[in-house]
Amino acid sequence: MKLSVIGCGYLGAVHAAAMASLGHTVVGIDVDQEKIDKLSAGQTPFFEPGLDEILQAGIDSGRLSFSTDYASLADAEVHFIGVGTPQRRDGQGADMTYVDAATNGILSYAKPGSLIAGKSTVPVGTAARLSELAAAKGVRLAWNPEFLREGFAVKDTVDPDRLVYGVADATRDEDVATLDAVYASILERGTPRLVTNQATAELVKVAANSFLATKISFINAMAEISEVAGADVTQLADAIGHDVRIGRKFLNAGVGFGGGCLPKDIRAFAARAEELGKGESVAFLKQVDEINLRRRQHVVDRVVDSFDGQVFGHRVAVLGLAFKPDSDDIRDSPALDVAVRLKGLGAEVVSFDPEAMDNARRLHPQLAYADSLEHALEGAEAVVVVTEWKQFRELDPVATAAKVARPIVFDGRNILDPVAWKAAGWTYTGMGR
Ligand code: UDX
Repeated sequence: MKLSVIGCGYLGAVHAAAMASLGHTVVGIDVDQEKIDKLSAGQTPFFEPGLDEILQAGIDSGRLSFSTDYASLADAEVHFIGVGTPQRRDGQGADMTYVDAATNGILSYAKPGSLIAGKSTVPVGTAARLSELAAAKGVRLAWNPEFLREGFAVKDTVDPDRLVYGVADATRDEDVATLDAVYASILERGTPRLVTNQATAELVKVAANSFLATKISFINAMAEISEVAGADVTQLADAIGHDVRIGRKFLNAGVGFGGGCLPKDIRAFAARAEELGKGESVAFLKQVDEINLRRRQHVVDRVVDSFDGQVFGHRVAVLGLAFKPDSDDIRDSPALDVAVRLKGLGAEVVSFDPEAMDNARRLHPQLAYADSLEHALEGAEAVVVVTEWKQFRELDPVATAAKVARPIVFDGRNILDPVAWKAAGWTYTGMGR
C-alpha cells in the first residue's frame, strides 16, 4: 500500500521505517528540513536501537522516502499522523498546534476516499473534531493509538501487544478493512486487534499511560514509607509482584518517571477531564505527578545530607542523563533534573551518559560532561546513579572504589547490589531500602 506519515520524530520516523519494512511504500513528511535531509541520507536524528537498519533498508529498497512537501502524500491511501502533542506553555493541556497543522496539510492534498489514521496521543474528542474537517473533503478519519516505548520502538511497532482502531460509525467497515490491510502481516501472527469508537481509542492511550504512571508513583510512595519504617521496597515489590493481578513490571522505585510521554500525558488528561467536568475522576493523577517530582528532590537531599548540608564545591559524579536507558532522550528526565539541581546548589557536578550527553549539553551547557565513565568517577566525593544503563548496573564496586575520593553511592534506580557495595567499603543509599 501507499502510506504517508506526518511527523518524523520518535513516533513518526519509527512508524515510517517500520511500515516500509512491512512492505509498504511510505513517504515521511516533516516541516524540519534538517531532519528530512538526515533521514533521507539514512541517518536517524535520535538514538533508537534497530532503527538505523530498517531506515537504510527502506531507503535502499526505494519504498521509503522523506519530504517537507505535503504534495508528496497525494497518492497515499492512508495518512498517519505522528506529530507531537507537547505540554502547553501554561503547563496544562496538550498543545494541538502540530496535530491541527498536520491535518490541514493532509487535507490540502489527500485524495477523496483515503484514510487519516491518527497515532499521536490526543485529548479525547480530538478525532471527532478532526473527522468533521476530513469529511468535508471526502476523507475518512480513524484513531489508531501507538503504544511504543523508546528503546523498544521498532519492536513495539512491528510486533505490538495489541492494535486499537478507533473508527467512526459511518465508515466503520471500510476503515477496519483499510487498517487491516496496513497491518496484515502483524495480524497474521494473531496480534489482538480491538475495534472501538474514536473516543474509546483516544482514551485507551491516556488510560494506559496513566495506569503505568500510577504504578510507578504507587511504588515510589511505598519507597517513602519503607524508608521511614526500615523496610526494603525492592523486596516489597518482588513480594506483591508475585500476585499476577498486580505483576512485577513497572514496580521499580527510584527517581521516578520522565520522558516525552508519561509526565505530559497525565497532566493533559487531568486538564481534559476538568474540561469535561470530571476533574474529580482523575484527581489522583495530580498526586501521581507530585509523588513523582518529589523523588528527584529526595535524591538531591540525601546527597546534600552526606556533605552535612553543604554540597558547595564538592565533586559529585552523576551517572545518567537520559530519562531511561537505551535512549538519548532527555525530555523531562529525572536524571538530568537531579544533575541540574545539584549544580544549582553549587556542587561540582561531573555527569556521564552513554548516549544523551550531546542533547544535555545543548540544554545545560553549565554542567560538566565527562568523556568516559572512568573520568566521571575520578575524584568523586559522591556517586549518584540516576539512569539504569547496563554499564552502570555492571560497575564493579571494588574497582570503582579505587577511583573515587570518597566511596559514597546513591543508587537512584536501585540497580546496585547493596551487599556487594557495602562489602567493598561503600556507604550505600538506595531508594526506599
Ligand atoms: C511510555 C509507555 O510505556 C509507552 O507505552 C507509551 O507509548 C509512551 O510512554 P516511554 O516513555 O518510552 O514509554 O518509557 P517507559 O519505558 O514507559 O518508562 C517511562 C519512565 O518510567 C522512565 O523514566 C522509567 O525510568 C520510569 N520507570 C519505569 C520507573 O521509574 N519505574 C518502573 O518500574 C518503570
